[in-house]
Amino acid sequence: MHRMTARRIRTMKAKGQRIPVVTAYDYTMARLVDRAGFPIVLVGDSLGMVCLGYDSTIPVTMDDMVRHTRAVVNGTEHALVVTDMPFMSFQPSAEEALKNAGRLVQEGGAQSVKLEGAGPTVEKVRRIVEAGIPVMGHLGLTPQSVHQFGGYRVQGKARKDALRLLEDARALEDAGAYSLVLELVPAPLARVITNKLTIPTIGIGAGPHCDGQVQVVHDILGLYDDFVPKHTRQYLRLSETIALALGRYAQEVRDGAFPTSNESFGMDEALLQDLLDG
Ligand code: KIV
Repeated sequence: MHRMTARRIRTMKAKGQRIPVVTAYDYTMARLVDRAGFPIVLVGDSLGMVCLGYDSTIPVTMDDMVRHTRAVVNGTEHALVVTDMPFMSFQPSAEEALKNAGRLVQEGGAQSVKLEGAGPTVEKVRRIVEAGIPVMGHLGLTPQSVHQFGGYRVQGKARKDALRLLEDARALEDAGAYSLVLELVPAPLARVITNKLTIPTIGIGAGPHCDGQVQVVHDILGLYDDFVPKHTRQYLRLSETIALALGRYAQEVRDGAFPTSNESFGMDEALLQDLLDG
């Protein structure tokens, strides 16, 4: 089977096929996601938090995104690899946006890029699409603008904000985006937007009516137990399983129970005797 394409993702909406999407940031996780049959894997700039330990996506650089994208591309055969354009990689100008989208495709190997926001971003989306790079849009809570929003909160609750979101969604569709992430948007508004667009919406904290859903892989696998966002569901509590396994390993090393001959390698007896005899 060939890799999924942005064109096929678009047609999934018309066929009524829902689109599951999950993030991955490295080769090992990307292989698991690909084998699980996800049509899209997102190299999110959320890697700033879950891989690099920052408290937002703001410090993530183009070099970070290129490196992690390459690892994910190396680990996948079937999924469409979509990569986030990080903060300040597209905001300054259309030329900068085009150059950096090109880097993510050429050096990183991504098949598509994702840009946050509308307004001045719409023209950049148009230029990147015209250059032959499929673009996924991202509206609602756009984490690169967290300082402007004053926190990670639901967007589009007031009438004017809801109308603006709908207008922005249409503008991105007109600019050539093939899909649109809606993050932290009231479910009924996400439903209206989904019904009014021909391109698929991919929700995160945007209710059940979107055409697809995206989640951060660390959230759904339960790799964090200190904070579980309301919009996620833990399908596993992997942090507990890992803590148990690490604890057992450390204890067995301390006790001398690991390794045994099962995990060791022998050598020629005569040679050993020679060595012992000096
Ligand atoms: O960076 C990311 O993981 C994202 C998703 C949450 C949509 O943009």
